[in-house]
Amino acid sequence: MPRILKLHPGPPRELDLKGAYLAHRLHELGTAQAPFVYANFVSSLDGRIAVRDPATGEGRMPEGLTSGSDYRLLLELQAQADCLITHGGYLRAIADGHLDDILQIGTRDFNRDLAQWRADNGLAPQPAVLVASGSLDFPIPDSLARHGQRVIVATGDNAPADRAAELRGRGYEVVTAGRGRAVEGGPLVRALGGLGFRSLFMLSGPRMLETMLRDDALSRLYVTIAHRLIGGESVHTLIDGPELGAKGRLRMEELHYDSAAPDGCGQWFARFEPLREG
Ligand SMILES: NC(=O)c1ccc[n+]([C@@H]2O[C@H](COP(=O)([O-])OP(=O)(O)OC[C@H]3O[C@@H](n4cnc5c(N)ncnc54)[C@H](OP(=O)(O)O)[C@@H]3O)[C@@H](O)[C@H]2O)c1
Repeated sequence: MPRILKLHPGPPRELDLKGAYLAHRLHELGTAQAPFVYANFVSSLDGRIAVRDPATGEGRMPEGLTSGSDYRLLLELQAQADCLITHGGYLRAIADGHLDDILQIGTRDFNRDLAQWRADNGLAPQPAVLVASGSLDFPIPDSLARHGQRVIVATGDNAPADRAAELRGRGYEVVTAGRGRAVEGGPLVRALGGLGFRSLFMLSGPRMLETMLRDDALSRLYVTIAHRLIGGESVHTLIDGPELGAKGRLRMEELHYDSAAPDGCGQWFARFEPLREG
């Protein structure tokens, strides 16, 4: 496993990549009254997190953006959650074969240690999964039932009532957490806290990040910045929607440097905390 350099806070020192994010003990930072909500993105220097395929319009990860190192850190973040926040788009992408199903923790040989870490730290074998969706039009992967994971669907108060009823009929919990069709960050986090969850990892994209930031509901943002330019004419960046203004202010609390991956370019692993107003 690679060594990385911790640059900030100083003085610089080397450490093993493995365990670097488990050391954050995110599962201990929240309470049911104030769950700890955290997200992770991998970005290029020109701010790309994905490019759109011109033929299908589907997003895909460009070659050379990610590495085994940032994937390991993503899995360490995920391992500390008692609930994953994902969305309809991800479940559709799994069903279409565009993205891998990574809704379980420690189920493969290379990450088996994370299942043990959860057991040692008093977490359930697998996290619950919250699916945010306005359309309520998504398949639920079999893997969730196979691993006994609780599934909760969140939607707006104007979501299709027949689909909500159908999901409830199949035994899924459906919570209303927003006006119109969209889910809003504050009501969503309160609803999940009300169900007893304390650490919420966002396995989701730009729209959910915006949803949380606009409501001051994000506790921490992890960003891996790969030292390469991607270009591309139609791309996804970290955030969607209108300008964020002061809601987009962040402070960097930690920075690690991996000089080798991906593809010899190197990458920074940065941890940011949103700056609240006042
Ligand atoms: N590099 C990285 O670290 C990284 C990280 C995340 C994503 N990505 C990539 O970036 C691209 C775009 O990400 P994405 O697929 O997550 O797209 P997105 O546009 O952020 O979200 C897609 C879907 O999520 C649901 N959704 C999101 N926010 C919601 C809200 N507030 N209320 C209700 N539903 C909401 C909607 O589902 P319904 O249509 O069901 O209503 C929406 O269609 C993808 O290619 C993805 O793979 C890259």
